[in-house]
Amino acid sequence: MKIKYSVVVITGANRGLGAQFATQMLERGAARVYAAARRPESVDVPGVEPISLDVTDQQQVEEAARAVGQADIVINNAGFSSFARLIDGEMRDIRREIDINYFGALRMVRAFAPAMRKRGRGAFLNVSSVMAWLGYEHSNSYGASKAANWAMSNGLREELAGAGIQVSSMLLGSTDTDMMAGIDVPKNRPDELVATALDQFEDGVNEILADDAATILKAGLSGDPGRFVE
Ligand SMILES: NC(=O)c1ccc[n+]([C@@H]2O[C@H](COP(=O)([O-])OP(=O)(O)OC[C@H]3O[C@@H](n4cnc5c(N)ncnc54)[C@H](OP(=O)(O)O)[C@@H]3O)[C@@H](O)[C@H]2O)c1
Repeated sequence: MKIKYSVVVITGANRGLGAQFATQMLERGAARVYAAARRPESVDVPGVEPISLDVTDQQQVEEAARAVGQADIVINNAGFSSFARLIDGEMRDIRREIDINYFGALRMVRAFAPAMRKRGRGAFLNVSSVMAWLGYEHSNSYGASKAANWAMSNGLREELAGAGIQVSSMLLGSTDTDMMAGIDVPKNRPDELVATALDQFEDGVNEILADDAATILKAGLSGDPGRFVE
């Protein structure tokens, strides 16, 4: 899906990767960029149109879809990691990850897809994570929610086949945003990562491997997952 002249909606566009997506969409010639955020006053990207949107609120999602009308591209970027463990983390945190990372994206798709289907044109970019493919300390309940997001993209691609709608899933490893602020590991630069992802998105890639971690883990998926356990 070409970005030039397109109408784009980005969730969680007030910071981190969402703000980068908004910036680079404008740089690539998008006609209009709706920067959706829970606090639209916190959106700080010149040239975008901030809109109020909590992806856990069905009514707000439907209102956003009505307000935007016809979107060419929806980027389901909003995400949350509680760093809860599966075995003894708070169920409230684990549910919240699923509600934002899976149901939030699904709510957006269900609200925006009907207008795309009518026009026979549109694209979703669903931001998953390499944690969908890997067990890692304090990222496992988050990983389960991102695996659901990844499976959602595979399923939507099948359900929307022939409708003229691109469904891209984006896989990435640790990147230097607030989400990873407390974690001392090597990190991607958000600007470089988003540029790589958008190049692939514009090429119509279904599964966007946005960094080396995604590429290496994808290549190793046929191996025994037990080999990652220390
Ligand atoms: N950074 C990484 O290493 C990494 C790795 C793999 C995947 N990802 C994924 O990349 C995406 C962007 O993450 P990031 O690194 O930019 O994280 P971030 O800096 O923590 O930003 C998260 C964004 O999601 C928004 N958000 C959270 N809950 C929301 C809700 N209920 N409704 C609407 N917006 C909500 C936040 O808004 P508020 O400001 O209102 O909280 C914020 O804009 C996420 O899906 C994340 O899971 C990140």
